[in-house]
Amino acid sequence: MNRLMRITFLSLLAAALAVPATAQSGADTYKAKCAMCHGADGLATSSTGKMLKVPSFKSPDLVKAPDSQLIEATKNGKGKMPSYNGKLTDAQIRDVIAYIRTLQK
Ligand code: HEC
Repeated sequence: MNRLMRITFLSLLAAALAVPATAQSGADTYKAKCAMCHGADGLATSSTGKMLKVPSFKSPDLVKAPDSQLIEATKNGKGKMPSYNGKLTDAQIRDVIAYIRTLQK
């Protein structure tokens, strides 16, 4: 392999590895702490989701809501949504919101 090919290959590899790594830890946090209300698919169709009137992450409002709003709600809570301030680090909250974005596709 020549030098350019090696650099191209290594940067593609790094990009491929970087994406799942974040998505993975965000996914783990989501499954452990959020899925019981929001549902594994983010649509909140379970009886708990319905009882608490949890909104679907695919609702147009939440699809267009900026990350800052979703991070704020996760940190400080909103309505029946518990606050995760001190329970999740800022990095974990960012990762879990990034994972929620993948559920909105
Ligand atoms: C006990 C049930 C419950 C759990 C657990 C839960 N949520 Fe929620 N979540 C809610 C409810 C209820 C709402 C709707 C709040 C409202 O609009 O009054 C909500 C709303 C949200 C919103 C939208 C806020 C907005 O701006 O309208 C986000 C983002 C969110 N939750 C993220 C999370 C994340 C991330 C986790 C896990 C770390 C999580 N939730 C865990 C019940 C829950």
